Amino acid sequence: MKRNIAILCSGGDVSGMNPALKRFVEYALENKLLPYFIYDGYEGLIDNKIKEANYCDVTSIINRGGTKIGSARSKRFMDAKYRTIAKKNLDRLNISMLIVLGGDGSFRGLHQFYKEHKVKFCGIPSTIDNDIYGTEYCLGVDTALNMIKFSIDSIRDTASSFKRAFIIETMGNKCGYLALISHLTSGSELCLIPELSYNLDDYEENFRQQIKNGRRYFIAITAEGISQDSAEIAKWFEEKIGIESRVNVLGHLQRGGNPTVKDRLMAYKFITYAIDGLLKNKDKSIICYTESGFDYKKIDAVTNTPHKLDYELINFISS
Ligand code: F6P
Repeated sequence: MKRNIAILCSGGDVSGMNPALKRFVEYALENKLLPYFIYDGYEGLIDNKIKEANYCDVTSIINRGGTKIGSARSKRFMDAKYRTIAKKNLDRLNISMLIVLGGDGSFRGLHQFYKEHKVKFCGIPSTIDNDIYGTEYCLGVDTALNMIKFSIDSIRDTASSFKRAFIIETMGNKCGYLALISHLTSGSELCLIPELSYNLDDYEENFRQQIKNGRRYFIAITAEGISQDSAEIAKWFEEKIGIESRVNVLGHLQRGGNPTVKDRLMAYKFITYAIDGLLKNKDKSIICYTESGFDYKKIDAVTNTPHKLDYELINFISS
């Protein structure tokens, strides 16, 4: 008899989820497992939106951002009553193994689900914020960084044509990873992240001097989690530095787009490790990636430990 395995996407979608779904179906079938898709995250698990998947469901999706099976931020899954319904839905289809692509909020829900109903699971860190403890890489981050890079490069074209300062705001929730990496790789003049306190006055003299020396434009990258609004930073450039300013909040374009080669490959590997883990009793874990490779980390360690941005990276901009 075939064993049944399901997958769902939860929280903010990332480019890389579709390649992961493709690998999920193909590798499950290769291992004589029956793959199921759960549509619209934990919401769909509660509402029984669960369907058997096959090769036809995953054709022509490897190149697409988003997730073919939908995602959601489920409030109902935080309620034990709905988690019991979710378990019944899995039991009805004899699904004994579950893979969840999501961020730390999704994993906390998953952990609670496990404590109550003992469903074997593996979690795959998937968030452009790259803010999950225990893993240096979350699915979707490379595509998001490339979308930001493309945007900054385009803005630089117009910035250099005028004498202007451009404030470019990245996503990341409370984490400055996207802003910081984008700053280091795009040659911007200023980077403001939640992890590092700053005082704009400290830059004033230097920036004014740079204009005197011939600088025509500035690019400042701000993380959405800092305490100031990007409009306030723009005002500071106008009033204190004396340069016309514009704000670009990159927003959800950072979450979309054709998945990069890195995200396609990471999706392939994450899913392979997840299915292998479930078959080798390494469940109750989150698949984490560090310099030493992939590892199965206990979900309580991952969800109970706050993520900290790499100190080395912060040091690059704190001097
Ligand atoms: O998925 C992560 C993220 O994109 C954060 O960077 C951002 O703060 C948030 O989701 C936006 O959420 P929503 O799509 O619900 O507006």
